[in-house]
Amino acid sequence: MSKSINVRTPSGDYEVLIGSKLLGSYNFKWLVQNRQILIIKDSMVPNEILETLRISLSNSQPMEIKVLEIETNEKTKSFEGLIPIFEVLNANKFNRDCLLIGLGGGITTDMVGFVAASYLRGVDLIQIPTTLLSQVDAAIGGKTGINFAGSKNNIGAFYQPKLVLMDIDCLKSLSKSDFTDGIAEIIKHSLIADKNLFTKLENIFSKNNELSDEDLVQIVYESSLIKAFIVSNDEKEKGDRALLNFGHTYGHAFEAIQSLEGFSHGQAVGLGMICASHLSFLLKKISSDEFEKIKNLIKSAGLPHEIPENFDVNDFIEAMSRDKKILDKKLRFITLRGLGSAEITEDPPEDLVLKSINL
Ligand SMILES: NC(=O)c1ccc[n+]([C@@H]2O[C@H](COP(=O)([O-])OP(=O)(O)OC[C@H]3O[C@@H](n4cnc5c(N)ncnc54)[C@H](O)[C@@H]3O)[C@@H](O)[C@H]2O)c1
Repeated sequence: MSKSINVRTPSGDYEVLIGSKLLGSYNFKWLVQNRQILIIKDSMVPNEILETLRISLSNSQPMEIKVLEIETNEKTKSFEGLIPIFEVLNANKFNRDCLLIGLGGGITTDMVGFVAASYLRGVDLIQIPTTLLSQVDAAIGGKTGINFAGSKNNIGAFYQPKLVLMDIDCLKSLSKSDFTDGIAEIIKHSLIADKNLFTKLENIFSKNNELSDEDLVQIVYESSLIKAFIVSNDEKEKGDRALLNFGHTYGHAFEAIQSLEGFSHGQAVGLGMICASHLSFLLKKISSDEFEKIKNLIKSAGLPHEIPENFDVNDFIEAMSRDKKILDKKLRFITLRGLGSAEITEDPPEDLVLKSINL
């Protein structure tokens, strides 16, 4: 059971493979033979996954395989966090023909992607995303990077991998909250681009929260297809790629404010998507029925659907105005025009933005 997507970008094409038991069955020979390989593994990824990968790679006659385990959090996603990776490459005299493999969530794929883009001015890269969010989002599209001086992802490069392998068996050890964070991004993709996927998600989550492997492969595939399509048409974020920020203008503000401390990125985006949908309704771009359907799906997926009681509206206004300053005095919202279609709305009336958080 595997599905394939071809991502085509001006700086290179590559295949994204989605399926179950992929790491043990993929024939890596065309990428691996006679090459020095460094696997950079998130320490939370179970060792059995690494071993399965290591056996597959060994069967493909590499010159050598080294493994570096890294601790991942938004603090280690930094210059300091990159140093051990560069040190291993340097100490082992990895040459330009070496191959890096990122095995972990979005933090790992962002960091390893950045190392691949910059070590010896660019070496080959395989991304093996092991969280749902990194499968449907971070590992596709070639955006890599680290955090610097308190800002997220402000140093990085666009750098495309040679291959992305999404094995849903890697997701079995994920915490529920990390899994749900990925579901938020899948819902986002359905809302901005695919009404049928939205309906499929409604059907899945209205029954129960247990996804079969088949359902999971299918929704990871359909969601990744949307991301792949958008980034193929806008590799360097000059146009439609901005639509992927649906729910994120609110989400960033929610993540930044103290009264919602502890909200994960997915939870903030989930709530942000409800507010952005409410704004779309207030701007008469979606019907009240569509707004209700969106709220219900986000609720049934286990994401927050109400503004928490301790929410401080003044903190929210302050966080939004900070973003407004950074964005040259214009706040950019992604709004819906029906289910499965989105557009950019610049600087909507402030009273409507405030009304939109009144759920
Ligand atoms: N490059 C892009 O286009 C893009 C897009 C979206 C997000 N991102 C970035 O991705 C990051 C978020 O991604 P994420 O949610 O995957 O975060 P993450 O990498 O922090 O992973 C989430 C958690 O899951 C753990 N984990 C990873 N794989 C696991 C596994 N198989 N089993 C058990 N635990 C596992 C990690 O150790 C971590 O604790 C952010 O830094 C964000 O900026 C990048």
